[in-house]
Amino acid sequence: MQNVIEVSRLQKKYGEMTAVNNISFFVKQGELFAFLGENGAGKSTTINMLSTILPKSSGEVLVMGHELGREDASIRKEIGIVFQNSVLDGKLTVK
Ligand SMILES: Nc1ncnc2c1ncn2[C@@H]1O[C@H](COP(=O)(O)OP(=O)(O)OP(=O)(O)O)[C@@H](O)[C@H]1O
Ligand SMILES: [Mg+2]
Repeated sequence: MQNVIEVSRLQKKYGEMTAVNNISFFVKQGELFAFLGENGAGKSTTINMLSTILPKSSGEVLVMGHELGREDASIRKEIGIVFQNSVLDGKLTVK
């Protein structure tokens, strides 16, 4: 699999307020990917959508080939998340 994450025109709206405005990107297998932006840019909202915690408003997302919104249980089986450095174990590698 070449792209482990594919995001196309992803959008999140809270009523009239657009928190994530039609973003698209992909992440290749084995790649270290940094997702940066100023405060309030929509980073947490995006990550919450990709990790199936928050429903998207529109757009298409594939995680490990599974379609977000339709195959969320399959996505959850494939991903692991550490939200903060403070809960990392210094001696435990990703591998
Ligand atoms: N539940 C919510 N209801 C309404 N607006 C929200 C909600 N959650 C986030 N927002 C708004 O959506 C926008 C994006 O917020 P988000 O938390 O995703 O940004 P962020 O890039 O993670 O910011 P930070 O760098 O401060 O962590 C902000 O304007 C925020 O106020
Ligand atoms: Mg945030």
